[in-house]
Amino acid sequence: MDRTFLMVKPDGVQRGLIGRIISRLEDKGFKLTAAKLVQVTREQAERHYEEHKGKPFFENLVNFITSGPVLAMVWEGDDIIVLSRTLIGKTSVTEALPGTIRGDFAAHTPFNLIHGSDSPQSADREIANFFGPEEEVQYDKSVAAWI
Ligand code: PPS
Repeated sequence: MDRTFLMVKPDGVQRGLIGRIISRLEDKGFKLTAAKLVQVTREQAERHYEEHKGKPFFENLVNFITSGPVLAMVWEGDDIIVLSRTLIGKTSVTEALPGTIRGDFAAHTPFNLIHGSDSPQSADREIANFFGPEEEVQYDKSVAAWI
């Protein structure tokens, strides 16, 4: 079973979209193993987005992600990194297709509602930046094999 770090960004929390975003992930059949509301610190934000340090949007990105609480989550599922990013949609809201979370709910590019890890290595690093191992809950979730 693969795992990923998904985070409802401050715009999603402020707009009351947590429930609808989680529903989409549950509908897909993914398994939630950790979740908490977090006021991200500047240091934590810089660690989270360290690969983008030096890019022109880095400062805006850190300011945005620290501007209000986020919902930090760990989800599990086969191929979840690729599948969850497909469900989330493209970064740019002008490219995010209808049916994706961003395509259906986001209208301005920096405010694109949700972050998803882009590789297993990123997922491990991002999860460790937000959760201790004891915060991930292991349990059986009976989902029919064809879902
Ligand atoms: S890159 O350079 O192609 O790797 O960047 P990209 O994957 O498009 O975006 C990386 C994250 O930066 C966010 N982003 C921005 N934030 C604020 N302002 C601007 N202009 C901006 N452009 C991109 C983008 O939403 C990505 O955040 P996450 O949380 O990973 O989705």
